[in-house]
Amino acid sequence: MKPYGVYEQLEPPEEPPAQPGRFSPKPALLAAVLVTLLFLFFIHFFHLCSSSALRRRAEPCADPCRIVLVESIPEGMSYGGPGNPSTFDAWLNLVGGARRSLDVAAFYWTMTNEDTHTQEPSASQGEQILEELLKLPARGVSVRVAVNTPTSKFPQSDLRALELSGAAVRTVDMPRLTRGVLHTKFWIVDGAHLYIGSANMDWRSLTQVKELGAAVYNCSCLARDLGKVFEAYWVLGLPNASIPAPWPATFSTSFNMETPLELNLNDTPAAVYFSSAPPALCAPGRTEDLRALLGVIDAAEDFVHVAVMSYLPTMEFSYPKRFWPAIDNRLRKAVFERRVKVRLLVGCWPHSKAEMFPFLKSLAAVGDNRTRYSVEVRLFMVPSSEAQARIPYARVNHNKYMVTEKAAYIGTSNWSGDYFVQTAGSALVVQQPGGGAGATVPEQLRAVFERDWSSQYSADIGDAARWERLCGSR
Ligand SMILES: *[C@@H]1O[C@H](CO)[C@@H](O)[C@H](O)[C@H]1NC(C)=O
Ligand SMILES: *[C@@H]1O[C@H](CO)[C@@H](O)[C@H](O)[C@H]1NC(C)=O
Ligand SMILES: *[C@@H]1O[C@H](CO)[C@@H](O)[C@H](O)[C@H]1NC(C)=O
Ligand SMILES: *[C@@H]1O[C@H](CO)[C@@H](O)[C@H](O)[C@H]1NC(C)=O
Repeated sequence: MKPYGVYEQLEPPEEPPAQPGRFSPKPALLAAVLVTLLFLFFIHFFHLCSSSALRRRAEPCADPCRIVLVESIPEGMSYGGPGNPSTFDAWLNLVGGARRSLDVAAFYWTMTNEDTHTQEPSASQGEQILEELLKLPARGVSVRVAVNTPTSKFPQSDLRALELSGAAVRTVDMPRLTRGVLHTKFWIVDGAHLYIGSANMDWRSLTQVKELGAAVYNCSCLARDLGKVFEAYWVLGLPNASIPAPWPATFSTSFNMETPLELNLNDTPAAVYFSSAPPALCAPGRTEDLRALLGVIDAAEDFVHVAVMSYLPTMEFSYPKRFWPAIDNRLRKAVFERRVKVRLLVGCWPHSKAEMFPFLKSLAAVGDNRTRYSVEVRLFMVPSSEAQARIPYARVNHNKYMVTEKAAYIGTSNWSGDYFVQTAGSALVVQQPGGGAGATVPEQLRAVFERDWSSQYSADIGDAARWERLCGSR
């Protein structure tokens, strides 16, 4: 994908200084001059067309967009004080308000106890959401579900129930298309409201896994743009689909890192765009997720706070094993060159990869009192009762976001190579300078980060030795 800068550099040349009238008009020369002028005119004209088509500086968005950070706080955890609205409430609002359409992109669906072979009372929220979703087609709402092609590991009863209810379900064979998976998690309702974040279509994502996302209401400008990412998944879900190259213009966007959508979010001016991964799924104009993430790090001058479930400067799932330092390098560069204060809060659970810890310690080691480089790494552990510990693949901080003094980045990907090179993911990037009443999105996200960072559930990586046996089977 060409950055717009390339087009900007194609400014038409100055008008030619030559004054043909002064020459003794040799016909060949005259013809050459005419051809040149015609050529320059053509180039100029073409440049105007192509740049206006690509830049299409749309009307600023006039929608009364509201954004709400929503979280799932696993049962049994408490910070004291009121928290953000829950993922469950946001989903219930979205499904309850749907009038015309609901599109969901998800990795897999396990919304019921039956799916996970459990008998947990805390599955009831997921079961309730599924029930509400199954009622939509009868209410005249067109429901489309794009899901990664299920392997035998994942139950398919929710997908079958959705189809029986009248929903259209397409499985996207990302393993065949990019050797990745469809890992994106978002909802789009009536082309006007959306959810994007870390929560899977999994009952555990509502009550047993710590999640962070954003719900955006009354914002067709943003919902329509995310809709283009959904449409890409939707066509890739056709039998034997292949990835178009280039993507047709209907999938392209003019909102990206260079020209974000300017709008009021909660009555405060903001600049917003969605990124997408992997690169092959980015239509013209769409910022690749890795570029978006690195761009947010590069723009920071004061601090970069990152909360992710897993962080590895490697490819995590592909062989042969490959080192992949794209993100790690940029964090170190920010610390070394701009003295940015970096904090990483990383999820720790029994499935954490053993390699993660030495890499995290290495990054933390750049922090030093004498040089005053500031890098801190803490592990976050969701506590479990004995019964909770038996719930498979639960009780973990599954957040995937970053906040700086300039921007909030709310993503759906772990921070390791596979997620940016092969896996389908997406992120919402919000810049909001603020200065008005009420906290901006970056300020709200920073408050979430600070709460977790200084909570009883986190420990410095240097002091976390006592946890390490709980983080990863070794
Ligand atoms: C969205 O707009 C409708 C109609 O104006 C309004 O009733 C509703 O409260 C708005 N939703 C939010 C979350 O602001
Ligand atoms: C998809 O490909 C398979 C194997 O090449 C072929 O048998 C099948 O007919 C194709 N399906 C469609 C809908 O083109
Ligand atoms: C750095 O300084 C702080 C405050 O003076 C101290 O608590 C901390 O132990 C020092 N860290 C190292 C690695 O020396
Ligand atoms: C993220 O990383 C963890 C640990 O490697 C892995 O178990 C999980 O499946 C990954 N994806 C998700 C669901 O975030």
